[in-house]
Amino acid sequence: MKIIESVEKMQFISNKLRKQGHIIGLVPTMGFLHEGHLSLMHKAKKDTERLIISIFVNPTQFIAGEDYGQYPRDIESDIKKSKEVGVDIIFHPDVDEMYSEKFYTYVNVEKITERLCGRSRPGHFRGVATVVAKLFNICKPHKAYFGEKDFQQLLVIKKMVKDLNMDVDVIGLPILRESDGLAMSSRNSYLSKEERLSALSLNRALKRAEDMIKKGEFNAKIIMDEMERIIKSEKRTVIDYIDICNPETLEPFNVIEDKALIAVAVKIGKARLIDNRVVYV
Ligand code: PAJ
Repeated sequence: MKIIESVEKMQFISNKLRKQGHIIGLVPTMGFLHEGHLSLMHKAKKDTERLIISIFVNPTQFIAGEDYGQYPRDIESDIKKSKEVGVDIIFHPDVDEMYSEKFYTYVNVEKITERLCGRSRPGHFRGVATVVAKLFNICKPHKAYFGEKDFQQLLVIKKMVKDLNMDVDVIGLPILRESDGLAMSSRNSYLSKEERLSALSLNRALKRAEDMIKKGEFNAKIIMDEMERIIKSEKRTVIDYIDICNPETLEPFNVIEDKALIAVAVKIGKARLIDNRVVYV
């Protein structure tokens, strides 16, 4: 397994792999790898012939006052886990390598970035789309893998690829959860024992919403009120949003139609946690 820190070197290798006819898979990450990341890597390993993962905590997707400085990092453990999966190359640039002093170009996906996380994290998806576009140009994957845990992010990347005619197949994969239902996230490491118990309310609220829909309740407000009650009944939870919307446009539903995205974002202590569920009526 190679660890590449230079953009030029990575591009040279990607070009070579392409010329040799290999199918390249890419899993972009910010490191501190957990089973959720590993599930993407395993799938990519199965589907493709050369597996590249990127580990880069991308400063442009953090808003002022967010946790960029404290974002958890453990490159040694990430290297070990990557080796076990059979990763061929870790692309691990530093910030100066990715963003020169005079960096002026950003990718801005409109409309779908104005809702959900885009509302409370203005500029976040501009940073995500920009870095993913750069990673696509540097690693030149045929296929790139993203988790549905960040449902809106996956939608934004699919839209960017379609609108800008990028020649990459974007593949979304299901959310991996701890045995108690908490969606895996690098940010779970911020939670104290007590906060972690409160965090279980996200999945509990999503499950309750799904049950209500399955039993014929299609009024979004009634369901969101019940979700709010469940989450607020736990200590130290501060709701950022609860939303029930169209999973393609992210337009909110008053009355739930055939397929709905139920999404939540909640701050618990230092951690901002997100989770979601797609429900078919
Ligand atoms: P990061 O949070 O490290 O996540 C990397 C990938 O792992 C994303 O596609 C994310 O959706 C997926 N992932 C995280 N938790 C998951 C879980 N519990 N189950 C399944 N997949 C999960 O998302 C980012 O990094 C960044 O925004 C990035 C795309 C790398 C751009 O900087």
